[in-house]
Amino acid sequence: MASICYDPKLLANATILFLVLVSSIVVSCTGLVAALDSALLASEGKALLDSGWWSSYDNLTISHRCTWPGIVCNHAGSVIEISPSSEFHKVRDKFGKMNFSCFSNLVRLDLANHELNGTIPPQISTLPKLRYLNLSKNCLTGELPSSLGNLSRLVELDVSVNNFFNSIPPKLGNLKNLEILDMSHNKLNGPISQTLGSLAKLRYLNLHFNQINGSIPLELGSLTNLENLDIGVNDLVGSIPSTFSLLSNLIFLDLSHNRISGSISLEIGNLTHLEYLDLDSNNLIGSIPSMLSLLTNLNFLDLSNNQLNESIPSEIGNLTNLDSLNLFFNNIVSLIPSELGNLTNLEFLDLSYNQISGSIPSEIGNLTRLEVLYLYSNNLIGLIPSTLGLLTNLNSLDLSSNQFNGSIPSEIGNLNNLSTLYLSFNILVGLIPSEIENLTNLESLDLGSNNLVGLIPSELGVLKNLMFLDLNNNKITGSIPSEIRNLKNLYMLYLNFNYITSSIPSAFGNLRELRNLDLSSNNISGSIPTMLGTLTNLRYLNLSYNQINGSIPSELYKLAFLLSVNFSYNNLSGSVPFDLPPPFDTHLTCDSLHEQRVNSLEIFQATSFEGNKNLYPNFSNCSPLKTKRDSHSIKTKTKRHIHSIKIYLPITMSICLLFLGCYSLYRCKVKTTQVKATSLKNGDLFSIWNYDGKIAYEDIIAATEDFDLKYCIGSGGYGSVYKAQLPSEKVVALKKLHHREAEQPAFDKSFKNEVKLLTQIRHMSIVKLYGFCLHQRCMFLVYEYMERGSLFCALRNDAEAVELSWMKRVSIIKDIAHALSYLHHDCNPPIVHRDISSSNVLLNSELKSFVADFGVARLLDPDSSNNTVLVGTYGYIAPGKKISS
Ligand SMILES: *[C@@H]1O[C@H](CO)[C@@H](O)[C@H](O)[C@H]1NC(C)=O
Ligand SMILES: *[C@@H]1O[C@H](CO)[C@@H](O)[C@H](O)[C@H]1NC(C)=O
Ligand SMILES: *[C@@H]1O[C@H](CO)[C@@H](O)[C@H](O)[C@H]1NC(C)=O
Ligand SMILES: *[C@@H]1O[C@H](CO)[C@@H](O)[C@H](O)[C@H]1NC(C)=O
Ligand SMILES: *[C@@H]1O[C@H](CO)[C@@H](O)[C@H](O)[C@H]1NC(C)=O
Ligand SMILES: *[C@@H]1O[C@H](CO)[C@@H](O)[C@H](O)[C@H]1NC(C)=O
Ligand SMILES: *[C@@H]1O[C@H](CO)[C@@H](O)[C@H](O)[C@H]1NC(C)=O
Ligand SMILES: *[C@@H]1O[C@H](CO)[C@@H](O)[C@H](O)[C@H]1NC(C)=O
Ligand SMILES: *[C@@H]1O[C@H](CO)[C@@H](O)[C@H](O)[C@H]1NC(C)=O
Repeated sequence: MASICYDPKLLANATILFLVLVSSIVVSCTGLVAALDSALLASEGKALLDSGWWSSYDNLTISHRCTWPGIVCNHAGSVIEISPSSEFHKVRDKFGKMNFSCFSNLVRLDLANHELNGTIPPQISTLPKLRYLNLSKNCLTGELPSSLGNLSRLVELDVSVNNFFNSIPPKLGNLKNLEILDMSHNKLNGPISQTLGSLAKLRYLNLHFNQINGSIPLELGSLTNLENLDIGVNDLVGSIPSTFSLLSNLIFLDLSHNRISGSISLEIGNLTHLEYLDLDSNNLIGSIPSMLSLLTNLNFLDLSNNQLNESIPSEIGNLTNLDSLNLFFNNIVSLIPSELGNLTNLEFLDLSYNQISGSIPSEIGNLTRLEVLYLYSNNLIGLIPSTLGLLTNLNSLDLSSNQFNGSIPSEIGNLNNLSTLYLSFNILVGLIPSEIENLTNLESLDLGSNNLVGLIPSELGVLKNLMFLDLNNNKITGSIPSEIRNLKNLYMLYLNFNYITSSIPSAFGNLRELRNLDLSSNNISGSIPTMLGTLTNLRYLNLSYNQINGSIPSELYKLAFLLSVNFSYNNLSGSVPFDLPPPFDTHLTCDSLHEQRVNSLEIFQATSFEGNKNLYPNFSNCSPLKTKRDSHSIKTKTKRHIHSIKIYLPITMSICLLFLGCYSLYRCKVKTTQVKATSLKNGDLFSIWNYDGKIAYEDIIAATEDFDLKYCIGSGGYGSVYKAQLPSEKVVALKKLHHREAEQPAFDKSFKNEVKLLTQIRHMSIVKLYGFCLHQRCMFLVYEYMERGSLFCALRNDAEAVELSWMKRVSIIKDIAHALSYLHHDCNPPIVHRDISSSNVLLNSELKSFVADFGVARLLDPDSSNNTVLVGTYGYIAPGKKISS
């Protein structure tokens, strides 16, 4: 539809006008130009009017249209800039109506962030004076037209965050004036065109997050003015070209998440301006070159997730501007050089998942700015140095899975900013230091699988923020201190495999947040306190292998969320207050029974009660118990249960919404750092509630091949959504926080918020959370999967919008209203979602709707002052509120 811009009729009119004007004057050259100019202006005016973008501004006089929003003219009244703001919705609806070829003086065209769809109109390539073209953050698709290469004056070209596919047109190499080229976040494939190497003025080249393959062309080395080169998250192979040493102005280099092999070339030492170097998640081998130490401006260095071996060069101590150093998941052997202590600006240090040996040098205490220190899964030995106590800014310390011996230094008490402390899987001895009481910000404490002795210190009771406490598999004796009652935020408590005596304190009744409680394999006696029946959030309870007597209190029956119990091998007596399903029955005789508790997915195993001489399970309502056990029938049973569970759909992402486009629907923003399945052990705030108590973390890693992109179904506000089929054939949706985002308190907070709220509420029209993993390395939530995605997307898809008849829409609204009424009136304290929008309403296969995304929701304390902070999504915020920027 390449329409002619110079409408012959208009041109004729202009000529007539011109002839009338000049009839008495000598025809001059300037006069002719004036005539052509007025023809141009007329056609510009017509194009603006016909586009309909400014339909409420109908005064077409030249002086007026130059004041329309987003239009700038030159002194002659010709349009040189079109950049309507993104609130200008008419651009989206009438994109195709604009005849771009009419603006022969146009210098700047900015249509970023307008939800534009379709392909790039060919007339854009005919704008002879265009210097700036920004089409980013739209839903544009198709190939990038080769004709863009005709825009020879172009200085900045931004087509990022769209759905462009196929390869980069080689003709872009003609844009000799180009300084900024951004094609990131598309679906471009094919190789990087060598012709890009002729863009001699280029300062900024971004191809991040595409599917570009092949090797990196040597020609890129000609871009000597380049300051920023980002070709991360693609499918590039081959080695880092030696010509990169010519890029002497480079400040930012990201080659991460490709399949780049070979070693890190020595030439990297020539890039002395480099401040940011990210080579993570490639196949790099060999050593970390000491030449790196020449990059003294470096403040970010990430070589994680490669196969680098040998040692950490002591020269790394010269990189004194470094604030982040990540060598996670390589094959590094040898010691931690003491020179590391010279990196006094370091805030993040991750050496975990290597084979680093020796002990931690005491110089580590010089890194006083350190906030995160991960050394887990190495072969470190010796004492935990007391100088760690100098790192008072530390908020995450993970030394687990090493061979540290000796006792926990009391200096640990100085780290009062610590929120996670993992020392599990070492051979630590001695007592748990009472100084731990200083760590009042602690949320996760894992000292499991060591040789710790003595009592559980009553000082633990002051750690009011503790959510996760794991002391399992030690040699802890004595009783559980009653101070435990103060841990009101505790989610999980693992004290199993110790020598704990006396009885279960009734103080447990105060732990209202408790989800998982494992006291198994101790010497606990006495009876089960009825107070346990007040733990309304309890999912998983294991009291097996103790000497507990008396009966199981019927109060436990009232725990609606309980999924798994184990009372086996105690001295319990009486009857079991749970309705047990017949373990091997394939009839439906028990369905009505299960219906009552179907929401809690309970499958209590008979084995959960065995080893108690006088305990009588109650199968009375069901068909007789068969004793034969075979895997087939168990499987059938499991399937039946899955079937009887209502399918709750839960991709709670603001998938289409946050960038106002659909571009990210099927894509993830970043590949995630690989985590070996074993990297999350007991020491992580990890819990997934399933029929058998837990879905193994390993199952999730296996099902998603370590969160491989191919399982990613969306990306949004924070994190990406993956689809995973578990061994049980159950399909779940995983909402995973990106690695970098996990380090940002705001994201971290909304993630935890969602966990907190969703595990407390239950409603037919609210998405149901099956579990979560809260570990700095890997944070995700688990929901059941739903095919139909968000209401927002469904309404934008023509076919789906038709399917959503008015009756269906009414019932969706009804469901949402019920859910909100439940949140506001039936929950105590009331919950306000604070971000109800069509993208936070999800649809299941039957088009039933569910409220999702509780990231900014709040518990409303009726006595507190009203909250004046505005949160939510523009366009959905209740009217009458003042929107400040
Ligand atoms: C357009 O603006 C001009 C100049 O201000 C004015 O003379 C004219 O009346 C306006 N026409 C319309 C239709 O508003
Ligand atoms: C293009 O527009 C987006 C959105 O407004 C902006 O973030 C980006 O910086 C612009 N690109 C250039 C090269 O100016
Ligand atoms: C683009 O979106 C409009 C609605 O804004 C729709 O009518 C049109 O069909 C879409 N075009 C394409 C090519 O998807
Ligand atoms: C790179 O640095 C080496 C020495 O480290 C030097 O011999 C070589 O000439 C440099 N190359 C360029 C292109 O600057
Ligand atoms: C770099 O480190 C090495 C060893 O730590 C040292 O000998 C050398 O002087 C340092 N170089 C610079 C330029 O600081
Ligand atoms: C670097 O560390 C080493 C060993 O810890 C030390 O001897 C040296 O003085 C440090 N260099 C600087 C410049 O601080
Ligand atoms: C660094 O640590 C060492 C050993 O702990 C200590 O002797 C030295 O004084 C520290 N240097 C600085 C600058 O703090
Ligand atoms: C506990 O913290 C205080 C300051 O918050 C500090 O003075 C004290 O030394 C710490 N105690 C221990 C044992 O570390
Ligand atoms: C609650 O908000 C109103 C305005 O909406 C304000 O006048 C009032 O002072 C607020 N109350 C408190 C306790 O902050």
